[in-house]
Amino acid sequence: VFAYNVHHVAIAVHDLDAAVTRHIALFGGEPLYTEEVESQGVTEAMLPMGGSHIQLLAPLGPDTPVGRFLSKRGEGIHHVAYAVADIDAAIAHLLDQGVEMIDVKPRAGGGGHKVAFVHPRAFAGTLVELVEVAE
Ligand code: CO
Repeated sequence: VFAYNVHHVAIAVHDLDAAVTRHIALFGGEPLYTEEVESQGVTEAMLPMGGSHIQLLAPLGPDTPVGRFLSKRGEGIHHVAYAVADIDAAIAHLLDQGVEMIDVKPRAGGGGHKVAFVHPRAFAGTLVELVEVAE
């Protein structure tokens, strides 16, 4: 039920193409994919880095979670995603710990993965995403 890897660190940006170009110029790499994720109101680019990834996120509109984040706080780190082998078991474990989940059921995330968000109140004001990936 526990996380076994940092799947990605997500950074919210205004202009995805510009951010991808800049990230590649500064740090290298190539995006694995760029995908519109309707359920999260974002377009995301996933850049592999070692066994993990950097996820660049741009909002589909101002009235989306990432759109509101950008207007309130500006660009920056939005969430950290932990890889779990069994997302249903991980959610059940967290609920059992009395944790408030944003998603009590997994939803469709980028790259065909099942994902669920844990409320920032659960740990250090940090938005944590669970991503189901075979261990
Ligand atoms: Co993410």
